[in-house]
Amino acid sequence: MARSGKVAVIGAGFYGSTTAQRLAEYDLFDAVVLTDIIEGRPEGLALDINQSRPVEGFETKVVGMTTGRDGSGYEAIAGSDIVVITAGLPRKPGMSRMDLLEVNARIVRQVAENVARHAPDAVVIVVSNPLDEMTALAQLATGFPRHRVMGQAGMLDTARFTNFVADELAVPVSSVRTLTLGSHGDTMVPVPSACTVDGKPLTELLPAEKIDELITRTRNGGAEVVALLKTGSAYYAPSAAAARMVREVYTDSGAVQPICAWVDGEFGISGVYLGVTAELGRDGVRRVIEIPLADTELAELHKAAEAVRAKQADIQHL
Ligand code: LAC
Repeated sequence: MARSGKVAVIGAGFYGSTTAQRLAEYDLFDAVVLTDIIEGRPEGLALDINQSRPVEGFETKVVGMTTGRDGSGYEAIAGSDIVVITAGLPRKPGMSRMDLLEVNARIVRQVAENVARHAPDAVVIVVSNPLDEMTALAQLATGFPRHRVMGQAGMLDTARFTNFVADELAVPVSSVRTLTLGSHGDTMVPVPSACTVDGKPLTELLPAEKIDELITRTRNGGAEVVALLKTGSAYYAPSAAAARMVREVYTDSGAVQPICAWVDGEFGISGVYLGVTAELGRDGVRRVIEIPLADTELAELHKAAEAVRAKQADIQHL
């Protein structure tokens, strides 16, 4: 198989390193670059992942690089087609994603400036929290066109929702379709009207109270894992979603996925980064796709947009 292209993952915590591993195992890219500010960590993880190549049977090479606060090391990401920003602190038990706003804003701004300098043509996928705000900040700090900067959250939240529905009904996850929009936080908007199991509406298969229970569990999906782990946050499902987004973009797939994208009039909402359904392609977000929503779902999406808009206004100064 012909491999091509280069993807950079900034931040070699669990989220970043599992994303790099998944990307390498796709065996699609020439190289996956993994960077971190912790001396030796990205190099060590890259070496470790590369040593799994003969066993797992992939050829993509992972390149680890320690970066300095002065931007040294970032030359390793030069020519990247896609950059995934995972840098920043994860939550601790009891914290909301929003509690990370100030500390992660400083980190993400600095990273984004270096990405703009060294990989000026890349599509940027942000996963740092609070997600919608950090995506907006990365766009500001890179100065990239908005369609080239997006955030990962909807695919993760949707995957969690799907997993819970499949467990509840004891059916394969492949038979379940769910959807979440809105923010990756308190104003997440699960969309039961778009959920099906083997093509049948979820609303006909489960009582409303049970669906509400699964929605609440989905909304708290990240916090539930954080509370169990006690240190750090989830990374297997998050990295699966981030790597899949990279693949959709790189292969110019045209897949329609729930992602955090710039919304400019769709759903009657403008001027904000928000979780919506969008078509992915080689240039990033091809377009936001308006899907039919129940009135209550649309009202919730508008509420989410206003909540995120208020916070996104704050981050410009961070
Ligand atoms: C979560 C974090 C990664 O939802 O936002 O698990």
